[in-house]
Amino acid sequence: MESRTPVRSGGFDPEYPIVTTRLLLRPITAGDAVTMHSYKSDPDAVRYVPYAPLTLDEVEQRIATTWSRTVFTTEGDGVCLAVEERESGALVGDVVLFWRSETDRAGEVGYIFAPRFSGRGYASEAVDALLALGFDGLGLHRIAARIDERNTASARVVERLGFRREARLVESEWFKEEWTTLLIYGLLETEWRGRSASMQ
Ligand SMILES: CC(C)(COP(=O)(O)OP(=O)(O)OC[C@H]1O[C@@H](n2cnc3c(N)ncnc32)[C@H](O)[C@@H]1OP(=O)(O)O)[C@@H](O)C(=O)NCCC(=O)NCCS
Repeated sequence: MESRTPVRSGGFDPEYPIVTTRLLLRPITAGDAVTMHSYKSDPDAVRYVPYAPLTLDEVEQRIATTWSRTVFTTEGDGVCLAVEERESGALVGDVVLFWRSETDRAGEVGYIFAPRFSGRGYASEAVDALLALGFDGLGLHRIAARIDERNTASARVVERLGFRREARLVESEWFKEEWTTLLIYGLLETEWRGRSASMQ
């Protein structure tokens, strides 16, 4: 029987930046507001994320509060990170890892990228780094992704990373003034470790 290793006692304070082949993931700062606003105010970009197009003021307020959290202290915390293109230093998007449950060692990923940086594999590369943060760093057992069925580009990101499609919840949420069919994806730590080993 698998042992139940607790998630890091006392939370987890990761080291930043997290560096990948082409990107780095770092805490979000006040200086990111204008660039973040450019894609978070775009109705198409925010169509399937849980907020309406944001004003610059709203982006600044969120950065000053929840989006600048860098430490996982207690379940329920979400750590948002800016994603920078290493070559240019450009902010290309942002990602979030939620610590959903301490008992279940469960997490969830979210992400949004500026449309002009799509189609390069940046989202997949950044979310892959979040998986290492969640499994290796925080000690999670399972990481989920909840995706609107119409958001096929997002589903391809998690499928590329080895997530299993576990459920299709038909018209399960009243989201942005309409019923939404949700796809639930999951990835276990053991599956992720197996995947990582087979890619070496
Ligand atoms: C969801 C979202 C991040 C997906 O963006 P994306 O550009 O399709 O994803 P990636 O950055 O991982 O790029 C993958 C694509 O780049 C291509 N690509 C090109 N060069 C690549 C490379 N060097 N490495 C990997 N992929 C590469 C891949 O083939 C893939 O294309 P495909 O999906 O048509 O096969 C983006 O659409 C977005 O930000 N949407 C708005 C916010 C949102 O909906 N978030 C998710 C909420 S659940």
